[in-house]
Amino acid sequence: MSELPISFARGAPAPDLIPAAELAECAYAIARREGAKVFAYGSGAGYAPLREWVAARHGVSPSRVVLTVGGLQGFAFYAAEQLARRPGRVLVEAPSYDRPLKILAREGAEIVALRMDDEGLDPDALEAELLSRPEPPSFLYTIPTFQNPSGRSLSTERRRRIVEIARGHGLAVLEDDPYGLVRYEGEAPPSLLELEGGELVTYTSSFSKTAAPGLRVGYFVLPEDTASAFEERAVSTYISPPFLAQATISEFIERGHFEPNLVRVCAELRTRRDAMTGALERSFPAGSSWSRPEGGYFLWLELPDRVATDDLVVRAEPEGVVFVRGEDFFPRGSGRGLGEARLAYSYETPERITEGIERLGSLLR
Ligand SMILES: Cc1ncc(COP(=O)(O)O)c(C=O)c1O
Repeated sequence: MSELPISFARGAPAPDLIPAAELAECAYAIARREGAKVFAYGSGAGYAPLREWVAARHGVSPSRVVLTVGGLQGFAFYAAEQLARRPGRVLVEAPSYDRPLKILAREGAEIVALRMDDEGLDPDALEAELLSRPEPPSFLYTIPTFQNPSGRSLSTERRRRIVEIARGHGLAVLEDDPYGLVRYEGEAPPSLLELEGGELVTYTSSFSKTAAPGLRVGYFVLPEDTASAFEERAVSTYISPPFLAQATISEFIERGHFEPNLVRVCAELRTRRDAMTGALERSFPAGSSWSRPEGGYFLWLELPDRVATDDLVVRAEPEGVVFVRGEDFFPRGSGRGLGEARLAYSYETPERITEGIERLGSLLR
């Protein structure tokens, strides 16, 4: 057995997916060129050239873009701001990314988890929820592409319906899209931001999956009327972000490394996904099923009746395999996700992925 556990728990890139040598050169070059500017306080909204690049990519004015210290920090700002402007329940997908669920619980928000299937969030479930109570919710949090944790993507048709429903109800939507560019198959659907125009939809992504998570560079594209309040939250939290990290990303893009790196990362992730799905097919019992993502880091596993994944997590540990049980991706105490699990294939080599899935499979026989 290998020394370190095989981790299907880490939603992180494998070290070889991080272009460390290029980033190191970029960091040094930009620090020399910009000098004190990247070591000083500055705009709370971030390093201007990168802000402009993001704005141009999304066809918006730079005044609507705020660079954050990772996407998750921005989520905390958005949630606090939105809950203050419009208190109420927060709608999420079931399952959804666990860290925002924890942030929302800490904010004291009521979390309503909406049904999703292989095509993503069910628009009928959204509409039914909106009609079920007279008070409007605070906002909808959705990860439409290669969702964390399920790897599922919202179909184009459903994207259109969700935008229509949001317009009909004046529903604020947070579209979280850190994986959209990490696509290794299929056509990219339009974002909710593109479909809606950015009056209700706030879009967020980050460079964690396309360059490096340790630089902590995320961004928000905000509606015109909320951008300055959002920026103010950033200023009152950390004054200004670490400019060297943002300038390093900017230099990485300027030097033409961004797209080729993405191509390499996508090819590597595809091999890892194939290793995982191939091993699942060979070693998991009949009745198990899993999502088939065309990109991203994760797939969602559903085990045959009565096999509880919280028990499997415990039994897998001495076998040197770790993963996150399904329950952690639903609101606490909901009793959902019992026979389900998130499997991340981003962190391990294809060989270790195959070995880890075989070990899990043997625990199920
Ligand atoms: C859906 C989703 N949103 C946001 C994040 C936060 O990423 P970061 O803070 O590194 O930008 C992650 C990280 O895994 C994620 O999966």
